[in-house]
Amino acid sequence: MNANERPLDVVILAAGQGTRMKSAVPKVLHPVAGRPMVAWAVKAAQEVGARQVVVVTGHGADQVEAALNGSGVMFARQEKQLGTGHAFLCGLDALTDHQGADVLVLYGDTPLLRLETLRALLDDHRERDSAFTILTGELPDASGYGRIIRDRQGNVERIVEHKDASALERTVREFNSGVYLLDSRATDLAHRITNNNASGEYYLTDLLGLYRAQGSEVHAFKLDDPGEVIGANDRTGLAEAEGIIRQRITTDHMRAGVTIHMPETVYIEDTVTLGRDVTLEPGVILRGQTSLADDVTVGAYAVISDSILEAGAVVKPHSVLEGARVGPGSDVGPFARLRPGTVLGVGVHIGNFVETKNAQLAAGVKAGHLAYLGDVTIGEETNVGAGTIVANYDGVNKHRTAVGAGVFIGSNSTLIAPRTVGDAAFIAAGSAVHDDVPEGAMAVARGKQRTIEGWSRRYWGGLREQVNGKLPWLAAWLGKQGD
Ligand code: UD1
Ligand code: CA
Repeated sequence: MNANERPLDVVILAAGQGTRMKSAVPKVLHPVAGRPMVAWAVKAAQEVGARQVVVVTGHGADQVEAALNGSGVMFARQEKQLGTGHAFLCGLDALTDHQGADVLVLYGDTPLLRLETLRALLDDHRERDSAFTILTGELPDASGYGRIIRDRQGNVERIVEHKDASALERTVREFNSGVYLLDSRATDLAHRITNNNASGEYYLTDLLGLYRAQGSEVHAFKLDDPGEVIGANDRTGLAEAEGIIRQRITTDHMRAGVTIHMPETVYIEDTVTLGRDVTLEPGVILRGQTSLADDVTVGAYAVISDSILEAGAVVKPHSVLEGARVGPGSDVGPFARLRPGTVLGVGVHIGNFVETKNAQLAAGVKAGHLAYLGDVTIGEETNVGAGTIVANYDGVNKHRTAVGAGVFIGSNSTLIAPRTVGDAAFIAAGSAVHDDVPEGAMAVARGKQRTIEGWSRRYWGGLREQVNGKLPWLAAWLGKQGD
């Protein structure tokens, strides 16, 4: 079979505990840039073209498997963590058919490994028709890592674990990343790994000697940037890894035509898509299935999750959007909150301190200040006055309200759902609307104003003694009124 046609099976080792996280959450589930670490490995495996992916779980296995549920991977349990060699064997058991396949080994705690690196590793392995290719890196001090020991000709001879290494071997700068590409003999050879070493573990690295004993050459593929395989072992490592991924993502967007002010403060998950001439101000956070079309501007410290912003939309500072759709040319904020089910048409204006939920606002609707619009449809060009509340909840159930086009809702009105307001209707300010309003009608629903002349003088006069001591301005005013 042509090397490039060989299927690729991937075993991801993720059974370790990660005590340095000091956490109830398994190490590989700690998120980096919006994804659990192990999910980065799964993503890399799938993107490099894996036929089967098996994740070896142990510590927190139930949680890890639940987190990856639906991602199309298989699981193998490693009940006791007897070493990487043993973990690999557990993984192989789960693969349904591995004859003739290349086998790639990844770790669940190295989220920085780039897809381009994996592709280059795979190409190298296949071009050389290699039996065993190790991904290595070089560090001035590779303490803690297994070292790559080469013979006089420079061929890879063995890997020695730090614990088992001599003083001289510890000066070697080339280290084992733990990523390997193996031919299908690995499945048989791995059974011959023993635990005769400093830690009494089954070392996957022993495979190397087993391959060589069969007369196979082992190749090393050296990383340009050793940082790609540095695992995140504690929370500072997590933050560092996240910083690197975050920077990669913002850099890619800037190269593709997005303006980002103070990019070091902007956080964009890799699931987000951005159009051309999008502008992001400092502190913007974009998460999940969010997509911003061309010419969208997002103001400082806005947080946008799972939302779609169409061309030219503007989100002003400190707004929070979740599960919303904002139509072309609409503007939102500052300090607006759009909750799930919000759909804004073309040129809608949402101002400060407006909250929407499950609200469909047609083209040209304006809600400029201080409103709650929940479970409501609002027709074109309707004006929602400051302080309008759609009272959608009766204490037990939520009800919907439908407002027509060209309606004028006066300030501080309450629409008590379920309610229907016809096109071009007019609601007087301060109304508590508890009946439907037909097309073109005017509704006033508030107490009629009573004005009682001289009321203040009588009221405060009765309290004159107390007013004298406590409220000098009122006392002076009462003095001017005469008795
Ligand atoms: C391993 C390598 C070492 C390499 C280093 C790179 C061996 C013997 N050594 O060492 O040469 O430089 O990785 O980081 O392989 N795991 C299991 N089950 C186990 C043990 C480990 O699933 O029984 C998983 C861990 O969750 C982790 C990965 O395998 O994702 C590596 O295990 P770890 O204990 O960190 O290996 P190292 O001792 O660092
Ligand atoms: Ca390690």
